[in-house]
Amino acid sequence: MDPVLLVHGGAWAIPDDMVDAHLNGVRHAIAAGWQVLNRGGSSLDAVEEAVVIMEDDQTFDAGRGSFLNRDGKVQLDALIMEGATLRAGGVGCVEHLRNPIRAARKILSESPHVYFVAEGAERFAAEHGIALCKNEDLIIPREVERLREFQAHAAEEKPDLFAATLSHDTVGAVALDAKGDIAAATSTGGTLNKAPGRLGDSSLIGCGCYADNKTAAASTTGWGEPIMKLVLAKWAADRVASGSLPEWVAAEAINYLQARVNGHGGMILLDARGRFGIAHNTPRMAWALKTMSEERSGISRQE
Ligand code: GLY
Repeated sequence: MDPVLLVHGGAWAIPDDMVDAHLNGVRHAIAAGWQVLNRGGSSLDAVEEAVVIMEDDQTFDAGRGSFLNRDGKVQLDALIMEGATLRAGGVGCVEHLRNPIRAARKILSESPHVYFVAEGAERFAAEHGIALCKNEDLIIPREVERLREFQAHAAEEKPDLFAATLSHDTVGAVALDAKGDIAAATSTGGTLNKAPGRLGDSSLIGCGCYADNKTAAASTTGWGEPIMKLVLAKWAADRVASGSLPEWVAAEAINYLQARVNGHGGMILLDARGRFGIAHNTPRMAWALKTMSEERSGISRQE
């Protein structure tokens, strides 16, 4: 098979002055993931490496630079899934991991379990050679200010916490490798001012991320609660299996999200034949694609 790699860097009203940073971020992620695919590596390794790049880039709501929760802490969720075997690894509500997707990958590869949360996830990561960090190491001044401003407004006017204009900058990747296997990975800091312990869609199998060679690989971004209610990544993958093109299904999934639960967000979707789709109903979405014949990236708009 000819490899394919598709990444996203969140769907929201990306401000003009952050467009370049988003484009650079998704392009770097593509470069890292493509290196793996290009040397014959697996789609699983490729999505992990692509997501690590975006977790390390403080532009995005993943890893360092993520949104802060109501207590002013970073709390991260991530999932990775392999389409050939349906093995998956997820972490939720972790506060001391720079790259939660690395811990998720260790769970996939080295644990009989699929999902760990909070201190248990961090203990698993440490026991498997992943260094823990301080929560303060994940916090940047931009996010301290964003939370301060949000909480100041909230006291007066109850802003819509889930407005599409607010960042849902979750990152994700889907890939197809030369062996014909697909994989998906998603990582997030979740929503601004979230309640401590709140878990979103990103790290839940079938909601924020899914991969099955027989259907498709999907990564979603956006307001997590509506996506969870529809188990949207699995919903989309199943439609690909019943014969629809990923391009149509991604658009259909986002329409369904809006029509059924008034949700907003975006999705990338890829099947084991290399056919893909990108869709969102937020003002903007950052994405990048690489195949053997083309390399594209963009901040697509939805008026
Ligand atoms: N989609 C990210 C979240 O809601 O946590």
